[in-house]
Amino acid sequence: MTAVGIDAIEIHTGKLKLDLAETLAPVKDKDPEYYTKGIGLAASSFPDTYEDIVTMGANAAYKLMDRRGLTPQDIGRIDVATESAFDNSKPVSTYVAGCLEQVFDGDFHHANKGERKFACISGTQSLDDAYNWIRAGRNRGRSALVIATDTALYARGDAGEATQGAGAVAMLISEEPDLVELSTEQGYGSADETDFLKPNQQFPSVDGKRSVQVYLARMREALEDFESVAGDTHPDDFVLGPFHTPFPGMVRKAALLAYRHMIRDTEIEEQLADEVGRQPRPEAFDSDEDYVEAMGDYTDLLKGTDTYQEWYDSTIAPTLEISREVGNWYTGSVHIARASGLKAMLEAGEDITGDRLLVGSYGSGAQAEIHAETVREGWKEEIAALTIDEQIAARRDISFEEYERVHDVHNHDKQADDVEEFTSPEDEFVFDGWGRMGER
Ligand code: HMG
Repeated sequence: MTAVGIDAIEIHTGKLKLDLAETLAPVKDKDPEYYTKGIGLAASSFPDTYEDIVTMGANAAYKLMDRRGLTPQDIGRIDVATESAFDNSKPVSTYVAGCLEQVFDGDFHHANKGERKFACISGTQSLDDAYNWIRAGRNRGRSALVIATDTALYARGDAGEATQGAGAVAMLISEEPDLVELSTEQGYGSADETDFLKPNQQFPSVDGKRSVQVYLARMREALEDFESVAGDTHPDDFVLGPFHTPFPGMVRKAALLAYRHMIRDTEIEEQLADEVGRQPRPEAFDSDEDYVEAMGDYTDLLKGTDTYQEWYDSTIAPTLEISREVGNWYTGSVHIARASGLKAMLEAGEDITGDRLLVGSYGSGAQAEIHAETVREGWKEEIAALTIDEQIAARRDISFEEYERVHDVHNHDKQADDVEEFTSPEDEFVFDGWGRMGER
């Protein structure tokens, strides 16, 4: 079977930076370590006042097409995944295509365009759609462009304010891909939930504590469903575990849950028996509550073991490095996690061609998906081409007062009085109602 997967990737971060320990903590009267250790974030990226989901998505897609020498004729499908859309009729992909047509020869009139919505998981759902389109043989030799773009902002004063972010990830999905091959096996955990929603409103209504529980419950279901098609998983099966990362503290919990699940009935559980006992079995408890409590005790002990910590440090920690600096990007988040992990492997000089990734995507509302990917031979060149470190370093550090102004500008419900720009756009799409490259 011809391999299908992610051929190329580009990342565009919003050009402003809110330092959480230096800038947000004093105003919120919080211990800086609440952000840097508890939540696990150093900073959030914000879009400058001339950036929005269209310009960030178009700038990521432009970089990808330019670097790979592509023209619109090479692309048969453009899907944008976002939960920050401003148009209930026209998909964001049409706006992005309009931007790209200004700078590339030809047009995208032949391309099928759409917008995917299911909170943060829609980036992965768009990948799945592109994969299925190619597998079905409907692509006529063309690739699909998937763009995950969001401004993940919360109301000021909301607990979620600590976990904001903004940016876009563009991915090219092709046959014989350079980066990773997607597998046919997927597992889902999906249920109607109301802990995080945006019913015709710019900022989400969130029950933060419950959202953490729902994330874990759906992820566990997805892992079990994945195993029902792919067979039992084992921690050593995967070189990296990129998970949806609203903030690294969330992934610390998810990783523990996944590990606990994967070591059940394995030699690792045996080895750890003296240190932490055996994993409790549900049938040994009178009630679900007792069982859940026992599992909590077990994972508390598990995370104190060298065995778990070594697995976490090699498989999970590398996936959190970019997110730590930029915050939650909603639909782009799990795709940043994958890029972050691969980048860390490249920097460590590891050759992971042929190794597998366990990818855990999640969207509020709520749905989790677990699937496996296999690293392809061209991964090193693809990851070496990323400029995300330079972009992160070049962001303009904003004060709290500036943050409030920028936040107001990106709150569509509110007319901002002051729309000053903090950085200067250079050879890029800018928001002026339509998005034009270099024209202002
Ligand atoms: P909170 O309730 O203020 O935080 O906000 P907390 O009290 O739970 O503290 C967080 C952690 O910091 C805890 O550690 C504290 O102990 C620790 P944990 O128990 O988790 O290991 N802590 C400290 N550590 C060091 N030094 C200190 C200190 N103080 C406390 N001084 C909450 C957390 C998640 C509720 C909030 O950030 C929030 O509402 N976020 C938005 C919702 C969210 O991100 N939910 C995550 C799951 S849902 C999801 O991922 C989907 C999403 O991306 C949207 C979509 O799909 O569209 C959000």
